[in-house]
Amino acid sequence: MQKSSFQVKWKSPSNIALIKYWGKHGHQLPANASLSMTLSDSVSVTEVLFSPLNSDSGPVVNFTFEGKQSEAFQQRIEKYLTYLAEQEMPFLKKYHLAIQSHNTFPHSSGIASSAAFMSSLALCLCSVEEQLFEGIGYAFYERASYIARLGSGSAARSIYGGYVSWGRTMHVRRSSDEYATPINKIVHSTFLNYADTIIVVSDTPKAISSSEGHRLMENHPFHLARYRQANLHHEEILRCLLCDDRKRFAEIVENEALQLHALLMTSNPSWILMEPDTLFIIQQVRKFRQHTDIPLCFTLDAGPNVHLLYSIEESVPIRQFIDESIRPFISSSARFIFDKLGSGPEQIFFHKFE
Ligand code: DP6
Repeated sequence: MQKSSFQVKWKSPSNIALIKYWGKHGHQLPANASLSMTLSDSVSVTEVLFSPLNSDSGPVVNFTFEGKQSEAFQQRIEKYLTYLAEQEMPFLKKYHLAIQSHNTFPHSSGIASSAAFMSSLALCLCSVEEQLFEGIGYAFYERASYIARLGSGSAARSIYGGYVSWGRTMHVRRSSDEYATPINKIVHSTFLNYADTIIVVSDTPKAISSSEGHRLMENHPFHLARYRQANLHHEEILRCLLCDDRKRFAEIVENEALQLHALLMTSNPSWILMEPDTLFIIQQVRKFRQHTDIPLCFTLDAGPNVHLLYSIEESVPIRQFIDESIRPFISSSARFIFDKLGSGPEQIFFHKFE
């Protein structure tokens, strides 16, 4: 029986996919390779207190989010941790886990909270695993990405800073469907100084859950074409990141976002998640690009909110564009979140009590 208690805290960022993961098979395995940008300021902060139980009857879980209990979250986390205890981390059966988490970004803002939360929780679990079984033979971050993926696919990518690829492809060394891989070494310096401004057009909670969206792909008439196209886009965006091809980068990123929405619109049931303000912003971005040489581009998650991606060196004209050509014309309740490429998760503390 384990006698020690542990208290561990990590903060871990969200990420925005440039090449979208949309469709999965088996146990949380992606139908195509995806690629994302890890954010800097949009993070989940998660603390877990592991207290030993007198028997192997765990994991016993108590979860609070922003100080409140939520039945829906509690059930999802219990299911996830029970699966881990059975399949991956038997030591969890010996513990009570008191989990507290909060986000630094608002709800339903187009920033994936499951990626941030699941990656922060996976890092807490892996820190304790590493302490208990020193020399277990896993590379820590690879293991954390694998464990995060079992909770939420996109969370696998949040384990690393910068640009991250997930899914087996011959174009990324050590790539795997099981965990994500950082690719910053091949990225041109221009892209290492990138901003993401999120325009929160609507903060109504997501109309469709990601799991439901992934499921809709199974019988989608376009699914094979989509997976082929996503893999081609993945390969091509790697070349753009390497060669500083910002023009083609913008085309691919926008095409990926619109494909995601095209798939949603043409699925059964059909989902139209863009709002009039979403389309207005898209049109304005395209006009701005026509009138300037600045390759500002947009991407979307499975919702109406718009991410604007651009080089921080071009912040001045782009902030002016946002203030003059977007802000006055969209709903006055829209919010703007100024984030950027981030350096990845950080451990805040790790304590062991005998
Ligand atoms: C549109 O990672 O949220 O954001 O694995 O079921 O938790 P689950 O799905 P999730 O799906 C993310 C979908 C997306 C695209 C992306 O992040 O790649």
